Amino acid sequence: MLTRIKYISRFAPQVTPQDLKAILDESVKNNQKKGVTGVLAISKGLFFQIIEGPRADVEELYKTIAFDRRHEDVLLLNVEHSISTRLYPDWSMRVLDLDSDSRADGQTLRFLLRATLDARRLQKDLTSTLERAIWKEFHKT
Ligand SMILES: Cc1cc2nc3c(=O)[nH]c(=O)nc-3n(C[C@H](O)[C@H](O)[C@H](O)COP(=O)(O)O)c2cc1C
Repeated sequence: MLTRIKYISRFAPQVTPQDLKAILDESVKNNQKKGVTGVLAISKGLFFQIIEGPRADVEELYKTIAFDRRHEDVLLLNVEHSISTRLYPDWSMRVLDLDSDSRADGQTLRFLLRATLDARRLQKDLTSTLERAIWKEFHKT
């Protein structure tokens, strides 16, 4: 059984194309060793990544990635356990550059990525509001 994690994040300021290349090189090298596969979509300063593989490896990798200073605002979107088939069996880490001119569907994918980030932000704000409302409920004088 496998685990799949999806998250979204923003480039840290001053991230260079060399940083992106380094991330990809590290990912391919490490993921191959661990049997981790997935995809990393990049567009307009945003990352969306899916990592899948053995549970312990995927969870450990996500923790490492979450603390990586080359990106920020890492928002966990989804964790699935007990997966029996991989979505990306052939890619230790496939990069999808959504801004590349050669992609006819780039605009739609970019829109979906941005909308996912906005929806997640809104959900985070709502959760904070709910949290505060519950807190007040328990601290009424
Ligand atoms: C957006 C993003 C995605 C990453 N994806 C992976 C990945 O799939 N696999 C990986 O090993 N490291 C990935 N990294 C890099 C890790 O955070 C970390 O730097 C790396 O695993 C350390 O490798 P090393 O121990 O070989 O130096 C990613 C970093 C970022 C910012």
